[in-house]
Amino acid sequence: MNDDPYSDPEIAELYDVLNTWADSDEFYLDLVMRSDSVLDVGCGTGMILRTARYRGHHGRLVGLDPAQAMLDVGRRDRSDIEWTSGDLTTVRYDREFDLAIMSGHAFQELVSDEELRRNLAAVRAALIDTGRFVFETRNPGARAWEQWTPEFAVEIPHPDGGVIWDQNDVELPVVGDIVTFVSRCTSPTFEGVKTTRSTLRFLDQTSLNGFLCEAGLAIEAQYGFWDRSPVSDSSPEIITIARRD
Ligand SMILES: C[S@@+](CC[C@H](N)C(=O)[O-])C[C@H]1O[C@@H](n2cnc3c(N)ncnc32)[C@H](O)[C@@H]1O
Repeated sequence: MNDDPYSDPEIAELYDVLNTWADSDEFYLDLVMRSDSVLDVGCGTGMILRTARYRGHHGRLVGLDPAQAMLDVGRRDRSDIEWTSGDLTTVRYDREFDLAIMSGHAFQELVSDEELRRNLAAVRAALIDTGRFVFETRNPGARAWEQWTPEFAVEIPHPDGGVIWDQNDVELPVVGDIVTFVSRCTSPTFEGVKTTRSTLRFLDQTSLNGFLCEAGLAIEAQYGFWDRSPVSDSSPEIITIARRD
């Protein structure tokens, strides 16, 4: 079983098919288009940055991700983005960006308190004085993992024919704010079933805000969904716009 799904080139090739453009991407794209220099942390295949280039963004766009396979998909489409292998503990930036984003729940990949502290300190350091850090994390109150079970498996047509089948199986009981789940996926492009195991952290709003404050990041706004509605006990997301304090 693979503990790092995104490092598998065949899974990386399917990422954009399984994760099509959504309201969340529009939300980030609008911010990116209004910023001269942008760091996308955990950019994956970098669909937001690539779309920004296609829509005429002429500034600096940096996509940082530890999964080379994901970066390779993005680079094949647009070579005029700084595709950078690593994460904020291995690559340092010093007051270089107007905007840093973590989209697609990449923030939840930061599981330990130590990882959170190091990444938040590094993202703050990467921002210019007026820079903003924008990201979302799933609200634990909405209990999204309750639908990460075999009965919610999905079948999606593959663009070249055939069907992709994708199933999650959360490990129960969920203890505290750490959720581990096994994913099984078949595709006409795979030989057999790919099985991967992932762990994500579901920080609640109070804990999240404590980490941000400790890192010197002030909260400008927080939303519960992409329509900018407020965070509530069961809103799906906690979307945060923070700035250097
Ligand atoms: C669900 S994907 C999101 C990709 C992209 N941001 C999007 O909106 O589609 C999560 C990404 O986070 C990356 N990732 C995992 N651990 C990370 C870390 N410690 N720092 C930055 N990115 C990480 C993975 O390699 C993967 O590409």
